[in-house]
Amino acid sequence: MILLSEVNRQFQSLKPELVKQFEQLIDSGKYIMGNRVMVLEEALAKKTGALYAIGVANGTDALVLTLDAYGIGAGDEVITTPYTFFATAEAISRRGATPVFADVEPDTYNINPSHVEALITTKTKAILPVHLFGQPVEMDSLNQIAKKHGLVVIEDACQAFGATYKGKPVGSLGDAACFSFFPTKNLGTMGDGGMIVTSDPLLASQIRKLRHHGSRTKYYHDEIGYNSRLDELHAMILLTALERMDDWNAQRRALAQRYYAGLQQLSYLQLPVHSQDNNPVYHLFCLASNERDQVVASLRQADIQTGIYYPCPLHLQKAYEHLHYKKGDFPVAEQLASQLFAIPMNPFLKPSEQDQVIAALQSFPQL
Ligand SMILES: Cc1ncc(COP(=O)(O)O)c(C=O)c1O
Repeated sequence: MILLSEVNRQFQSLKPELVKQFEQLIDSGKYIMGNRVMVLEEALAKKTGALYAIGVANGTDALVLTLDAYGIGAGDEVITTPYTFFATAEAISRRGATPVFADVEPDTYNINPSHVEALITTKTKAILPVHLFGQPVEMDSLNQIAKKHGLVVIEDACQAFGATYKGKPVGSLGDAACFSFFPTKNLGTMGDGGMIVTSDPLLASQIRKLRHHGSRTKYYHDEIGYNSRLDELHAMILLTALERMDDWNAQRRALAQRYYAGLQQLSYLQLPVHSQDNNPVYHLFCLASNERDQVVASLRQADIQTGIYYPCPLHLQKAYEHLHYKKGDFPVAEQLASQLFAIPMNPFLKPSEQDQVIAALQSFPQL
């Protein structure tokens, strides 16, 4: 089977270095909040152009702690996209605030800035755009709206480590940004991990406190916080992976170009569109087709894995019944949910395997 992502091949490629590092980690006796986390935080701050980075337990916590540190909670509203992984809106709800959805653009799949301003009320505190599938959101428009209304902008950059917008890395495009290190992410570990980056010293300091039980001084607690730290073990793996990151993202971009060249002329498929402002990192490569079910079935026949990201937009999720959205509220998100499917995309996809994927799509019967 040709897989969507090849985390096995990815971590195999790091194995000799990881085994060596693991021995050193065992011998260090320091497994929580040690030097590796600090070095990784510094490296990621530098890489994203932010002044501070704070490691946490996962990407969802990165969002929850950031919202918490901004004082966002019950009675507040946060504008976000209905077309994303559930965790984006879940984090807002976990804080007791309400996600308010704005429909997405049909070609980039990202939040459509032109729908945002009309949704702002006296309760709105933040805008939470998602750089979906590794493609940056059109941030200038969102930042302008946020500035005009005194809102903060929190980037959900969980799928977009290494992507740039107008030459600037994601992570430096809003007031704070959240990353996930779930294994299949562009920068991933062998478990869960997350990071918040920001250039706001007060926000960074508050998140540092929150992640460690609301404590700055051992056994003294200023407030109710979280146990949400990034382990030394994961920092070790991420530091090792980070050295390959640029090569891996370059490889994803090269594979994307081959997909564009091989699939562009197929009239039953729509390929993702990128603005000139973006240099995306192709976390996923998603195509749209009216005949998705048949295409996916024919790829399965050819031993090629596909994935549906995402079959149900968030406003139609059972968990959000209480928000009283209905079918038809966000037609673009709903159409994408019925049309999009991901094909294999990862830095360890071999050219011969990619050729098989392209050939299978080229041979799909066109009506
Ligand atoms: C867009 C988005 N937001 C948030 C998350 C949550 O990250 P995690 O799984 O590390 O909690 C993910 C990934 O799973 C994601 O893709």
